[in-house]
Amino acid sequence: MNAKIIDGKQIAQNIRDSISEKVQKRIDNGKRLPGLAVVLVGEDPASEVYVRNKKADCEKAGFKSFSYDLPASTSQDELLKLVDDLNSNPEVDGILVQLPLPAHLKSDLILERIQPNKDVDGFHPYNLGRLAQRLPVLRPCTPKGIITLLNSTGRDMHGLKATIVGASNIVGRPMALELLLAGCTVTVTHRFTKDLQKEVSEADVLVVAVGKPGLVKGERVKEGAIVIDVGINRQDDGKLIGDVEFEPAAARASWITPVPGGVGPMTRAALLENTLQAAEMHDS
Ligand code: GUN
Repeated sequence: MNAKIIDGKQIAQNIRDSISEKVQKRIDNGKRLPGLAVVLVGEDPASEVYVRNKKADCEKAGFKSFSYDLPASTSQDELLKLVDDLNSNPEVDGILVQLPLPAHLKSDLILERIQPNKDVDGFHPYNLGRLAQRLPVLRPCTPKGIITLLNSTGRDMHGLKATIVGASNIVGRPMALELLLAGCTVTVTHRFTKDLQKEVSEADVLVVAVGKPGLVKGERVKEGAIVIDVGINRQDDGKLIGDVEFEPAAARASWITPVPGGVGPMTRAALLENTLQAAEMHDS
């Protein structure tokens, strides 16, 4: 293997350490603890794990954690009412409604109800619009974490050809904005893309976020590319693997993220960063 590993676990740990220090400073200066409210509706097993981890991170960082585990039968009005209550609670700096929601709930209306200055997921159209205009903003966590990983390589992003595989609301589309703002020439591939492997083979920076193991063939990765694998897929033997064939991709890339221990910890660290940023916005 030639590629260097981008150690998301370690970089996320450094971020968490720095956040804990900032929380301690807030305490020393008589300021409030940052508060994060995490809302889970229903019993999706993957979401339960994600939410448990987010709450644990929050408590370890010294934040105040508010937790709402609601039954799958929760109505749209009940959920909107909870969001309204959290919006007006001065102890809550950030509100995260875990996705996906049960099918009867309209996620777009619920996410839009979150006050933009408490939208620590960065999914509100107001925040995405500000991001598009390069204005200060709460930024979507996974793309934000990936930019931190890319910066850790020391590579100048200006003029690089970046290809994002997958055009989701959570990762692909905000990632395209982030990479554009970083100075890359950006391509986004999706289910209608004619020749995925050709697009892959031209990318200096490749971000793959689909959720299909082995979707990107390692032999198609461009020599010297930076490969960011957002996929987390559980194999029958219980092992977690990404969307990119790791070994052959690592033989060609200059940098690559592992799965697990690459992007996942960075998404969680970015959520803490956003919650602290929201608390600082609410100080004044
Ligand atoms: N489901 C999967 N990823 C995310 C995320 O980053 N935020 C929320 N709210 N739900 C998710």
